[in-house]
Amino acid sequence: MKNEQSSNTLLCITGSIAAYKSADLARLFKKNGDNVRILMTDSACEFITPLTMQAISGNSVHRNLLDETAEQAMGHIELAKWADTILIAPCSAETISRLSSGRADDLLGAIVLASKAQIYVAPAMNKNMWSNTATQNNVNSLQSRGIVFIGPSKGEQACGDSGYGRMSEPEEIYETIKMSENKFLNGKKIIITAGPTREQIDPVRFISNNSSGKMGFALAEAASKSGADVTLITGPVSLECSNKILRIDVKTAAEMYVESKKYITDADIFIGCAAVADYSPVIQNQNKIKKSSSKDMQILLKKNIDIIASLSREFPDKKFMGFCAETEKIEEHAKVKLVEKGLDFIVANDVSKKDIGFDSDFNEISVFTKESHTHFHKASKNLLAVQLINMLSKNNQSIH
Ligand code: C5P
Repeated sequence: MKNEQSSNTLLCITGSIAAYKSADLARLFKKNGDNVRILMTDSACEFITPLTMQAISGNSVHRNLLDETAEQAMGHIELAKWADTILIAPCSAETISRLSSGRADDLLGAIVLASKAQIYVAPAMNKNMWSNTATQNNVNSLQSRGIVFIGPSKGEQACGDSGYGRMSEPEEIYETIKMSENKFLNGKKIIITAGPTREQIDPVRFISNNSSGKMGFALAEAASKSGADVTLITGPVSLECSNKILRIDVKTAAEMYVESKKYITDADIFIGCAAVADYSPVIQNQNKIKKSSSKDMQILLKKNIDIIASLSREFPDKKFMGFCAETEKIEEHAKVKLVEKGLDFIVANDVSKKDIGFDSDFNEISVFTKESHTHFHKASKNLLAVQLINMLSKNNQSIH
């Protein structure tokens, strides 16, 4: 864990089973040397005791708006001014709704209204509550007021359901906040390609691959939070991105190349995370090819342009990060691609492992440069994206 610049962090805990993870969160901030104060709603106290949070933070817990003794020690306006960062984790659907309406009849609502601090929200709720239009409208309203959402993640929920609604893991929340606070990529322009490409054979058939786009989208969100101006050029995926990101949707490798070339001219960094199809049909039939009962069918394929290799040759002044999926001799193959494609970084993952890679929310990666090798243990793609952007940020001095 890096020792980032320390700050005053107000960790607000609301009523969710994920509240037990808040103890770990407080510990991560404390370990970094941050001053941590804790605010708990009444429902939060049903899940984790104020005593636990007091022991971890080293400060008494703030609970009520109209508590004379607490107000004498540090009034709510004073607390709102004290905080550099306000993190609400876990944040329930009820709290999201209350904050969206600007309610000030409890300590949390009043502080959020009174503070000029950057506010982060790590939601935790049942998947249907999260996807409900009422919640999504509230989220959009809070985002438009500059509040940054971290998660929720997808996975098993305490209620037995599985989907988006789990609070993100403490390390992901912590790393995202530290990256956002430092804004190392402020003013930098980043182009990211994501997802698969789709090479049409006829109007109903195509050649594509299993890429979900999750890693590329996670990188785009992380880079944007780090202050970068992000253009995300994506193949067909069923993912959404925040409205701070310029999203360009494409289908084929040829279209992805055209858009990449258009946007790279004034960019600083190009991240090629897309699983670009290596080949496309020489002929794209205008009509559906008829099935023949007697004959096999042959489709002649031509090689697609290697987008990242071509751009790195044409724009040697930019930084290039490529990805590769390997099943054997990972280091050897990755290093050959690093040189052949003219990259500064190559991120290699082992796709022979079943629980990580293509459609998974998790990955395990190794990053190679000409001089170094860094391994990142199995983690969510969101956390790995933050770690990769942090790594790029550390090279910031050499990105002009
Ligand atoms: O050669 P391989 O497909 O393993 O290389 C993967 C890397 O090259 C990724 O960064 C991918 O986005 C990029 N690539 C590309 N254009 C292609 C094929 C791969 O930019 N036609």
